[in-house]
Amino acid sequence: MINMDFSNKVVIVTGAGAGIGKGIARVFARAGAKVVVNDINKKTGNVIAEEINAGGGEAIFVHGDVSKPSVGIRMAQIAWKKFGALHTLVNNAGIFVLKGLLDTTPAEWDKTMAVDLRGIYCCSRPAAPLIEKSGGGAIINIASVHYRSTLAGFAAYAAAKGGVVGATRSIALELAPRGVRMNALCPGFTETEIYTQWLNTFPNPKKKDAECRKLQPSGKLSQPEDIGYAALFLASDLGKMITGTTLIVDGGLTARLYQD
Ligand SMILES: NC(=O)c1ccc[n+]([C@@H]2O[C@H](COP(=O)([O-])OP(=O)(O)OC[C@H]3O[C@@H](n4cnc5c(N)ncnc54)[C@H](O)[C@@H]3O)[C@@H](O)[C@H]2O)c1
Repeated sequence: MINMDFSNKVVIVTGAGAGIGKGIARVFARAGAKVVVNDINKKTGNVIAEEINAGGGEAIFVHGDVSKPSVGIRMAQIAWKKFGALHTLVNNAGIFVLKGLLDTTPAEWDKTMAVDLRGIYCCSRPAAPLIEKSGGGAIINIASVHYRSTLAGFAAYAAAKGGVVGATRSIALELAPRGVRMNALCPGFTETEIYTQWLNTFPNPKKKDAECRKLQPSGKLSQPEDIGYAALFLASDLGKMITGTTLIVDGGLTARLYQD
């Protein structure tokens, strides 16, 4: 029988107060998982944990910045103490600087690397031994299509996401004998605040949005929960032979060679 039931499973989702992370947390909760919701934003993180609990699921909110080692340790400890196990970590929290090489300050470059790349190290390190202790499981790193094709003005973001994919391969090899899989999940255009923030950098955001939709072979953008379904698959037993790889979830955006 094919099993997508996560009712005895525990998942940590970082940056789950908004956007893709919120979609991922909702999908795992609907599959029955107990969810540790993390976010740097106390208000939005609490709201999603409360929403899951009110809907009959089980969730706990852990506030903190994923680029701090103490936060990764605290999340893993809370998952263990509250739910007695840990099976899945979704490293989703991410930021991006909407500036090119010439305008990005050293502090902005470092912050992007800290949240998008170091965050994966800080959260995976304490989580992996607990996943092993729980009988095995998976870590999913939310990277981006920018790891392979990008645009001018995305240097720090593309570098960080490329780093995530590189680290994913090496860590997957290291953790495979311990029963812990690691994969990178690479979304394309997904309707979230980061997307809106980027649209708002253009003089006519509506026009830019229409152009982005035109680039999608289906004309549709991904919704946060679409990324959640792919994460659930990678975390499930259906993905048990999938490790050290990248799964692009972009509706065909990067399959196209050029646009007429
Ligand atoms: N939206 C897209 O089109 C898109 C495409 C490809 C990849 N991604 C990636 O998906 C992930 C989620 O993006 P999103 O679009 O949902 O963004 P978003 O801005 O809508 O949400 C990000 C969430 O992460 C939280 N966060 C930010 N910094 C944090 C930190 N240091 N510690 C903990 N939480 C933090 C924010 O408070 C927010 O709740 C990111 O890694 C992003 O790079 C997004």
